[in-house]
Amino acid sequence: MADDVLTQLSTHRLVPVVVLDEVADAAPLASALVDGGLPVAEVTFRTAAAPDAIRVMADRGDVLVGAGTVLTAAQVDRAVDAGARYIVSPGTSRAVIERARERGVPVLPGAVTATEVQTALELGLDTVKFFPAGSSGGAAAIAALAAPFTGVAFVPTGGVGPTNLHEYLALPSVAAVGGSWMVPRDRVRAGDVDGVRSLVADAVALATRLRP
Ligand code: 3PG
Repeated sequence: MADDVLTQLSTHRLVPVVVLDEVADAAPLASALVDGGLPVAEVTFRTAAAPDAIRVMADRGDVLVGAGTVLTAAQVDRAVDAGARYIVSPGTSRAVIERARERGVPVLPGAVTATEVQTALELGLDTVKFFPAGSSGGAAAIAALAAPFTGVAFVPTGGVGPTNLHEYLALPSVAAVGGSWMVPRDRVRAGDVDGVRSLVADAVALATRLRP
């Protein structure tokens, strides 16, 4: 992935995974993220609001916005056209990876097996999303994969939260951790900016304490 985006994600160490039901929720969410000290978001293409929400958040200029749950090359185009700075896919999709490369944005494909990691490497990538992390063996599985794949960085996502964050951040092969716990869909939809900002700030404080 492009060095500057990777560097920023690995500096923050946390990637809030967002599901936005309404475009109108994007601006308050961005404020909560910035005010909470984590100006990063992976806006998932699980709702129709995603492209416009990405545009709203990207236009601020102070949030590192990417697109998640990107399943097709067409969605890569929609995401990048809206201002997404990186692409995240749940699986190792050659079509998504190649289109992201054509569009000049870094891509994090999902990979949880040795074969998938190797496929990502063959496609020129060295950072993958380890998804779904919890049900794919968790931190122990990442540690096992990191043994043969020494140059690969992992971004575990799925089933990560305050109680097990330390297991992942303790691994040198983990660049950052993704999760929705600090941006709960229902709180975002309810416009609970203070609540989300507080959860974000708590997550940042925890990650800072756990920094090896
Ligand atoms: C993702 O899309 O990466 C996951 O759905 C986020 O997983 P979580 O809700 O368990 O954090």
